[in-house]
Amino acid sequence: MIRESRLEVVGSFPIYPQAELRREASQPRVSAAEGREGGPIHRAFVEALPPGWQADPEVEIFSRLLWLKEGWYPLSPHYHFDWAQSPGGPQVETLMVLLGDNSLTEFVLGPLEHSATGHSATGHSATGHSATGHSATGHSATGRQRWDSVVAAGLRSGALRTWALEPGKLIRFDNRTLHRARPATRTGWRLLIRAIRGLERARSRGQAGFGKRAPFATCRNSYVPETDHARARYEPYRQ
Ligand SMILES: [Fe+2]
Repeated sequence: MIRESRLEVVGSFPIYPQAELRREASQPRVSAAEGREGGPIHRAFVEALPPGWQADPEVEIFSRLLWLKEGWYPLSPHYHFDWAQSPGGPQVETLMVLLGDNSLTEFVLGPLEHSATGHSATGHSATGHSATGHSATGHSATGRQRWDSVVAAGLRSGALRTWALEPGKLIRFDNRTLHRARPATRTGWRLLIRAIRGLERARSRGQAGFGKRAPFATCRNSYVPETDHARARYEPYRQ
C-alpha cells in the first residue's frame, strides 16, 4: 500500500547556545510532567506542546543529548521509521525539535510503498517494508538498509525529495515518515527532544524495559569507519 512520507512544521522554538544545551538531561520516555525535569529547555518544550498533548497521560517525552565529533552519527545512518506499526495499527505521532546545528536529520517526502505483512513489532524499526518499483527482497541488507536503496531510486526518478530539519523548527510527523541521521559537520552538542503520542503503554514501559528510572545518561553514537585505517582503529571498540 502507498503511504505518504510527510511532516509538518508547526512552530518555532528558541535557539540555545551550546553551553545551555549541555546542561540538559536526556529523558527516557517519561510523562510530560516528568519530562520537565530535564532542564529549562525541556520545560520550554513541554510548555510549547498543544494543551491536548500536555494533558494526555499517554504522551511521552523522549530526548537525547549527545556530544558529537565531526563525522560522528547520532544513531544508525540508515533510513527508518520511528515506532513502525503493523498494517492498520495505531498511528504514533511525534512532535520534535532539534537544537544544535551540526547534525541535521534528513526526512524523505513523497509516496512510499509498504508491504502488507511482516512489519516489525519493535520500535524504531523499518523491517518488513518493500521497495517502490524496486524489489528489496533477495539481498541480504537489513530492513533499514532496504529503504536506503528505495530512497536512492526515488530521488533519481523525482518521486521523492529530501528535507533537512533546521534547528529550532517544531515539527510533527508520524510512524510513516521516513528519515535518517546525518553525520556531524563539526564537533558540538546536539539535543533532540520529542513528544510521542499513540504508543501503547505496555510497549512503551514494561516490554521495552523502561520504567521509573535511574538518572538517564547514555552516551551513544553510530560512528561508521569508512577506510581500512579507520576500521582498524575502531576495532577495539567493537569488543
Ligand atoms: Fe528516528
